Amino acid sequence: MKKLFIKTYGCQMNVYDSARIADLLAPLGYVTADGPEEADMVVLNTCHIREKAAEKVYSELGRLRRLKERRAECGAPMLIAVAGCVAQAEGEEMARRQSAVDIVVGPQSLHRIPEMVARVERRQGRALETDFAPEEKFDSLPDERRADGPAAFLTVQEGCDKFCTFCVVPYTRGAEYSRPVAQIEAEARRLVERGVREITLLGQNVNAYRGEGADDEAWSLARLLRHLAEIDGLDRLRYTTSHPRDMSEALIEAHRDLAKLMPYLHLPVQSGSDRVLAAMNRQHTRAHYLRLIEHVRAARPDIALSSDFIVGFPGETDDDFEQTMELVRAVGYAQAFSFQYSPRPGTPAAIRKQIPDEVKSARLQALQSLLALQQRAFAQSCEGSVMSVLFEKPGRKPEQAVGRSPYLQPVHVDGAEHLIGAIADVRIERALPNSLSGSLLRAPRAQRVAAH
Ligand code: SAH
Ligand code: SF4
Ligand code: F3S
Repeated sequence: MKKLFIKTYGCQMNVYDSARIADLLAPLGYVTADGPEEADMVVLNTCHIREKAAEKVYSELGRLRRLKERRAECGAPMLIAVAGCVAQAEGEEMARRQSAVDIVVGPQSLHRIPEMVARVERRQGRALETDFAPEEKFDSLPDERRADGPAAFLTVQEGCDKFCTFCVVPYTRGAEYSRPVAQIEAEARRLVERGVREITLLGQNVNAYRGEGADDEAWSLARLLRHLAEIDGLDRLRYTTSHPRDMSEALIEAHRDLAKLMPYLHLPVQSGSDRVLAAMNRQHTRAHYLRLIEHVRAARPDIALSSDFIVGFPGETDDDFEQTMELVRAVGYAQAFSFQYSPRPGTPAAIRKQIPDEVKSARLQALQSLLALQQRAFAQSCEGSVMSVLFEKPGRKPEQAVGRSPYLQPVHVDGAEHLIGAIADVRIERALPNSLSGSLLRAPRAQRVAAH
């Protein structure tokens, strides 16, 4: 047995890829290690989205190099692989400069990892693969899929054709590609056989999904969700991340019609100013976004909304920023992510005149305070309600379990450890800073998910 340690950065797509890397390496005898110290192979699955994300990889590589040297002194080799979006963007230079790195593999070539490991083990030097081969990737992933718990990710779409002027994803993940329906369904069924109750469909632009169905037609995400909702034993469906431009009426209707589709939508808007949205090449306006939110809420009144925001995009004025704040006040988010604009090499916005750092950080602070207030208000509105919770893992206290509400909030419940893997009704008692706590409802299910 050899030991494998994978460290994952970035988005859920990387979390999915890391799980598949483990599945690909299992037939070679690799089992999971608890830390890099005991690992025969370490994979860093990296993210290039902001400068800080990419920097983390290089500092981690410094630590790993020293670890590899110490292990070598005891005669124990250690393979170091860099996968993911930094590998794609900076792979060749990394292979040149970082002598401790044995394997560099981009996100669309990760299915080649086993043969790359074999090549390195035969001492044929360094291995580098950064082709864009999404079809080949998904066709050659093993059927065998370990499930780490009752909730799983399933990538259905990769890549992006939108080219927002701030973003590296179209360059690191390549063009949009959608997996065929049958392949997705087979993977979903295998997950359910392994005890999975909730699946989150993933894609950089998941609602741009256009996958080939059995009828040779291109299926939309709405149609795919309706199809997967028919799988017995699969109780919950989610999807992320969506783009406002691809938020079709059919998808909104799925939120109205499908009880299994959880009432949560992550729909990034980035900015509330039309001027900034145009400069970002987002291809939607503020009014379009607000209209979508209205439709979504009409279809599913209790839906929890989430978004991503960028502050300090080149050219963003105080007035533009105020429009973002106003949009946030108008929508009312349950949860959101916000970032200072980070210039990324090769993207159009990076060469524009930049906003000073102090301005960016002041705007970020103002936005984050507002979003934190909204998040707290949302959590407090849940107090006293009854929610169905899918229990995923043990909590910190004995016999405690942690699960997720339909609105994706973590929920801590005492005496629920025996329910891990199951869904049960919970009375929400307290809103904590980043989670809820509640108690099991022993009475028969009287009410469904509480509305807000
Ligand atoms: N496909 C998704 C987002 C993928 S990246 C979408 O279109 O919304 C995740 C988030 O990172 C983005 O929504 C954006 O808010 C942020 N982001 C991307 N590039 C960035 C950059 N250069 N600087 C700061 N934040 C960035
Ligand atoms: Fe990046 Fe825009 Fe594509 Fe999202 S839609 S991945 S932000 S280029
Ligand atoms: Fe990062 Fe690549 Fe995801 S850049 S956010 S890991 S698509």
